[in-house]
Amino acid sequence: MKINRICCIGAGYVGGPTMAVIALKCPKIKVTVVDINQNRIDAWNGAYNQLPVYEPGLAEVVKLTRGRNLFFSNQIDKVIEESEIIFMAVNTPTKNKGEGAGMAADLKYVEACAKNIAQVAKTDKIVVEKSTLPVRTAEKIKEILITHGRNDVHFEILSNPEFLAEGTAIQDLFKSDRVLIGGDNTLTGQLAVKALFDIYSQWIPKEKILKTNVWSSELSKLASNAMLAQRISSINSLSALCEKTGADIDELSKAIGMDHRIGPKFLRASVGFGGSCFQKDILNLVYLCKYYGLHEVAEYWLQIIKINDYQKNRFAQKIIDGLGGDVNQKKIALLGWSFKPNTNDSRESPAINVAVNLLNKGAYLNIFDPKVDEINIRKDISKLSSKTSFQVYRDLNLSIKDVNSVAIISGWKEFLRIDSVENIIFNGSFLKFKNFKYKIGK
Ligand code: NAI
Repeated sequence: MKINRICCIGAGYVGGPTMAVIALKCPKIKVTVVDINQNRIDAWNGAYNQLPVYEPGLAEVVKLTRGRNLFFSNQIDKVIEESEIIFMAVNTPTKNKGEGAGMAADLKYVEACAKNIAQVAKTDKIVVEKSTLPVRTAEKIKEILITHGRNDVHFEILSNPEFLAEGTAIQDLFKSDRVLIGGDNTLTGQLAVKALFDIYSQWIPKEKILKTNVWSSELSKLASNAMLAQRISSINSLSALCEKTGADIDELSKAIGMDHRIGPKFLRASVGFGGSCFQKDILNLVYLCKYYGLHEVAEYWLQIIKINDYQKNRFAQKIIDGLGGDVNQKKIALLGWSFKPNTNDSRESPAINVAVNLLNKGAYLNIFDPKVDEINIRKDISKLSSKTSFQVYRDLNLSIKDVNSVAIISGWKEFLRIDSVENIIFNGSFLKFKNFKYKIGK
């Protein structure tokens, strides 16, 4: 099957970068990313100074492809209609009401997409699940497509979860560890798998493209995120024990990571994981386990989130303890607002939890992040606290001037240059700052 046009519904952190790379690597295919959010589409089309997603290398890829074979549009129906493959890369947040609230994935955006595709399609389509979805969602999507679609149109559903990590998305997309394509074991299913395989194989080595059944592919994504988060919670739990015993968490990480069976990645203690994925995907996994009556398994995975919450609170408490047990009227510089360096994404960032904790105890905060907009920082705080005793800085040096302490939450490389401040109270990312004269917690 020859693919000439691809549509991606959802111009977010996944849809934007993945489609930009497909467009770059497959110059003969027209790739159009659509979204209901006009502002986002405008930003992708260059209406503002910056793209809506910050990723190292992304602007360069967009510059090469936009207007050539990469397009961003709000004409969703038209683009669906003219495309042979439609990726769904919409958000799947945790449900906040109804059955499974607080745990299950909210599939309303995915369901709306499926309905939209069904109502618009006049020719056969390959519908690709790019969003992270609970296992067996394809069944539900198929039902929607059949119920709302024309009888003479055939839909084939593939699962192709995205494994990119924010901050290294472009690099990850260029050199993926693996690409997963889950499809039905029917003739049309396998033809659809081949069509997607042919796209990825234009730059990904064939042996790294794994063909599986749909359910394995869907569940692999949740399981991968759970395993990654598990390593973070494991090392973070040990950081608490290190502080009690005099062991050094960095030395521990190194010693553990040198075991080739374990490896060094994701073994750095931190203020806790954030981002839009880990927490929601684990909660989703926990919900699925409960749904299938696997209560012990559910409890096991839930513990990873409990340790993460514990670590965030522990971090805030250490700052308070470091300032003599009282932060009322004290001025603290909080450096790093995104959930990790090299992204402008602050969803579920541990910085939010730490900031709110300190603000509620009367502290005054100077907040600095190289990429997160002030508007977003204010939004993040206002969701959890009505306190306004903070200022957002665009200049790192000004943000750390005349403060009682500096708390580094995430390891942006800019912060490595700070070596003149005497009162660094705690180093969230546990990076080595040899020049700091005063450091607690280690
Ligand atoms: P996002 O929130 O940045 O983007 C989703 C976009 O979909 C939004 O711009 C929204 O306006 C749009 N949208 C929602 N419903 C729509 C509809 N019916 N029609 C058109 N547009 C619609 O989300 P993000 O971060 O890109 O994540 C998307 C999916 O990918 C999620 O399932 C997430 O779990 C998964 N994922 C995310 C990763 C990440 O690092 N952010 C990594 C791997 C997977």
